[in-house]
Amino acid sequence: MVMLWSFLTAVACLVTLTIGPAGIAAATSPEIDGKALLDKTCARCHSIAATGDSPLKGAPPLREVYLGKPIEMLEQGLEEGLGSRHPDMPQVQFSAEQAAAILDYLGGLVGRPPSTRPPASIPSTPDAVEPP
Ligand code: HEC
Repeated sequence: MVMLWSFLTAVACLVTLTIGPAGIAAATSPEIDGKALLDKTCARCHSIAATGDSPLKGAPPLREVYLGKPIEMLEQGLEEGLGSRHPDMPQVQFSAEQAAAILDYLGGLVGRPPSTRPPASIPSTPDAVEPP
């Protein structure tokens, strides 16, 4: 059984290697490093690791924020900027691609990729709707 598993794992790795960057590129933008973005802008206050406390007492580790909030809300927050809600935080706005890379990274940390998160049922208020 163990043999079979390692064989299957080896095959899976081979397939991944063979498909290579092209296969990954279809899913996300590999040139954007979500971890690096967080490292640069958020990590001095928030933990961006899989375990451990945040450097700043009172700032929740981002993996907990990730698990605690609906994906849509996180995307929106990252793209529109979070600084208005939390005066201490820098007013950073990420592109949709950057936000996706960040959420992919956080999802990887906790083993819950964004695609496996249940959709939020945020009631959309009229002023949240983009004008045509
Ligand atoms: C100067 C320190 C600091 C930096 C830098 C910072 N934050 Fe925060 N952040 C905080 C603190 C403190 C809180 C908790 C404040 C509160 O709940 O009122 C917080 C709260 C949050 C929350 C809300 C959590 C919740 O439950 O409402 C999110 C989301 C968040 N930060 C994301 C980010 C992201 C993403 C970045 C990088 C772009 C970032 N923060 C950078 C200090 C910081």
